[in-house]
Formats: sequence, structure tokens, C-alpha cells
Amino acid sequence: MIEVRNLCKTLPNGRKLLDGISFKVKKGEFVGILGPSGAGKTLTLRCLNGLLKPDSGEVIVEDAIGNRYDICKINKKQLRQIRQQIGVIFQGYHLVKRLTALENVMIGRLGQINTLRSIVYGFTDEEAAEAMTALEQVKIGNLANAKTGNLSGGEMQRVAIARAIFQKPTMLIADEPISNLDPSNAKTIMKLIRPLSQNIPVVGVFHQPEMTAKYCTRVIAIKDGKVFYDGDPKLSNKQLADIYGEELSLIEQQEQGFYN
Ligand SMILES: Nc1ncnc2c1ncn2[C@@H]1O[C@H](COP(=O)(O)OP(=O)(O)OP(=O)(O)O)[C@@H](O)[C@H]1O
Ligand SMILES: [Mg+2]
Repeated sequence: MIEVRNLCKTLPNGRKLLDGISFKVKKGEFVGILGPSGAGKTLTLRCLNGLLKPDSGEVIVEDAIGNRYDICKINKKQLRQIRQQIGVIFQGYHLVKRLTALENVMIGRLGQINTLRSIVYGFTDEEAAEAMTALEQVKIGNLANAKTGNLSGGEMQRVAIARAIFQKPTMLIADEPISNLDPSNAKTIMKLIRPLSQNIPVVGVFHQPEMTAKYCTRVIAIKDGKVFYDGDPKLSNKQLADIYGEELSLIEQQEQGFYN
């Protein structure tokens, strides 16, 4: 379970970046966050894993044994422990390009094992086998020893998902995990993420309403730092126009050839 209550973040000049965001995501839900550029989607995700402290509000998360914490109120040590349990898939983020795919997957559990053991002895054979299984699950077991920097965008996203699987998180957050992927790879990634929500809450930011309609269990639209919509993942054209406003009409005009 993840719950955010009344998240607020205001710039010194008075501009409200987050203006009372509240929602709750339970195990079994794959929530897609939509909204125009600059709406506050990434800032909201950064609050969810404690990377950004809101001016006010609460971020309640549950650890592996069911204890609840407000991420905004716990000390640094507790925050570090909680963050080890949060799987993060960010676009081109957090993968070490000079390491192999398998090594990147194993990094997912680095914070969880004794640091001294990880430095001196590395991972156990059992852990390496488990990381390999995670790569096979996302169908790139054959690339385990490839240098991550040489992989394609879609393959890198699969490494990031394998790392999140290996990490055994209690929740998963993803910021634009399918941006810059071709439609076929984007579908593959959505199909890999969706089943993870059977056991843990999953929240992802997307710019593709047709994908969230198909794969998410619920959609939240954020606009001007507020929750503008929360409900059925299938949105009508009118609802999409209300969410995206000018941005959508520009896209439509481009599609109709106004700019050709
Ligand atoms: N550190 C910061 N200082 C000042 N303004 C910031 C800071 N971080 C973000 N912002 C502003 O807050 C607003 C929301 O940013 P955010 O990254 O959450 O947008 P977003 O909804 O994820 O947009 P996109 O779809 O383009 O990724 C933006 O206008 C951004 O410029
Ligand atoms: Mg963003």
C-alpha cells in the first residue's frame, strides 16, 4: 500500500508545483499517472520514494512486514531502509553502462546485503542464479554478460525491470518507462510490468493514454499540481482534451496535417 495525503510543494516565488495531491494505491493495482508536461508527475513520484520532501503532506508506505511509515517524517537511516524496498524504473536512469546486464540486476539488492560482504565477497552463487532468472523472465537471459551501454533502449528497460524483480520490492514506481520505445517494445514492457502489480502496488507515469487504457487498472491525471481525474483507465476524447488542453489540440492539428 502507498498513500499520499495532501502533498504540497511551493517555490519561493509562490508558484505551487504540488497543490494538495492525494491518492492511495493498493496491492493488485497498476496505476498510470497521466498529465501535461510540467504538471507535477515526476515531482509526485520523487515524493513517493523520499527523493523530494514536500513542504507539507504525508507519504505512507508499508514495509515488507506490514509496518507503516510516513516517508516525510522518518530519519535518514529509516529512509534508506525503506528505499531499499522501493523498486524504481526511470528512463535511462540508474543503470551503470560500463557493467554487464547481470551486474546491473544484482545492484538492485546491494543496499540490502551487508555492505562489507558485498565489497569483499561479492554476491553468492545463489544470488547470481536468481539475478539470471530475473533476466530470463524479461527474455534477455542471452544478454546477461553484454555491456549495458551497448544495449538498445528497450533492452536497457528490460534490465531495469529485471533489477526491480530481483530487488523484491514492496512497491514499484516507474517514470516514463516506455518513452522513446517503439510501439512493439512499449507493449512488451507494459506486459512485463503489469503482472508485477499482482503482489505489490505499481505506479507509473506515462504519456500514452492508449497504453494506460489497455494495461493499467486505474488512471490518475495530474494537472497544475492537482489530481484532476482518478478512475477508470479508459478516457474519452473529451476527458483527454480536458487533461491535456492546448497540448492535445496541437498534437491533433499535427496529425491532421496543419504543419505539413
Ligand atoms: N527543483 C526545481 N525547482 C524549480 N522548479 C522545479 C524543480 N523541479 C521541478 N520544477 C518544476 O515543477 C514543475 C513540475 O515538474 P515535473 O518534473 O513534476 O513535471 P512532469 O509532470 O513530470 O512533466 P514531464 O511530463 O515534462 O516530465 C515543472 O514546471 C518544473 O519546471
Ligand atoms: Mg516528468
